[in-house]
Amino acid sequence: LSTTRRQFITGSLAFGAAALLASCGDKDSGSDPGNTTNYPWAYKSLDAAAAAQRGYDIFWERHCMAGPFEAIVAALGDQLGEPYSSFPFEMFKAGAGGLQVSSVCGTCNGSAMAIGLFVEDGAARSALISELFNWYEQTALPIFVPPNPHVDTTIAQSTPHSTLCHASVSKWCDSSGLSAYSSERSERCARLVADVTGKLVELLNAHFAGTFSAAYPMTATTESCRSCHDKGGMLENTRGKMECTSCHDEHSI
Ligand code: HEC
Ligand code: HEC
Repeated sequence: LSTTRRQFITGSLAFGAAALLASCGDKDSGSDPGNTTNYPWAYKSLDAAAAAQRGYDIFWERHCMAGPFEAIVAALGDQLGEPYSSFPFEMFKAGAGGLQVSSVCGTCNGSAMAIGLFVEDGAARSALISELFNWYEQTALPIFVPPNPHVDTTIAQSTPHSTLCHASVSKWCDSSGLSAYSSERSERCARLVADVTGKLVELLNAHFAGTFSAAYPMTATTESCRSCHDKGGMLENTRGKMECTSCHDEHSI
């Protein structure tokens, strides 16, 4: 053998290291778009009202999941440039309409992804997501009224009691008396994007200012169900914090 195993391996490692150095130094390479591998991405305090309006506008281009995420990341791109400005926001179209199947509401899904991009600490991430989701479940939405609405009419409010697109939309259909395929339903979801975006910005601003404190605990009923059915309970046969009674009846044992 002209090349021993050891020589071959050493040679490969050297080649690998050289290739790595070359790729790091290659700033013009299209395959190296800035610092997308740095984690977490830096966050700077944003204006909640401006972000809400931006979320409303984004809804009409890329739907509900893009709204909160893009409103925040693109606003940071305005200040910080790359890689924020070239984020492929189009990908969030996959989350539209509750991931196309009326599963988790796109605004909740996109917001959790934004929290995931900026907040590395697991406990803090979970606390922020719970706060946003509990607020969503327990609040009569939408609240936002755009200065230039796409659909210029009064939009009924409803309290979702769920972070699922299906329950959220269908409860709104019930309270408004309108179709899930109406233009008012689109307007309602656009305004809801604005509400969630504004709330998310408030939460992230507070988190990074060190002033966050939770104001929306899960409901007392959900707490009581979990005391038997969730972690540490006698049954421990569920996991999760969604409002149990949006799907199950209370029961006596
Ligand atoms: C004091 C403990 C306790 C609490 C509190 C409690 N459960 Fe249960 N739950 C049980 C037990 C025990 C069973 C029966 C389990 C079995 O038969 O395997 C049960 C059964 C169930 C079932 C299975 C279907 C059925 O009806 O048998 C569901 C669903 C359920 N509970 C939901 C809830 C929800 C929702 C809440 C809160 C509103 C709740 N539970 C509160 C103890 C509890
Ligand atoms: C979005 C609707 C939804 C929510 C919210 C929800 N569940 Fe369920 N749950 C289900 C479905 C669907 C099943 C499966 C039921 C089946 O197969 O009979 C289930 C199953 C269960 C079961 C087992 C039932 C059985 O037949 O033994 C328990 C216990 C239960 N859920 C408790 C809870 C508790 C406690 C919460 C709140 C923390 C909760 N669920 C929230 C929909 C929901």
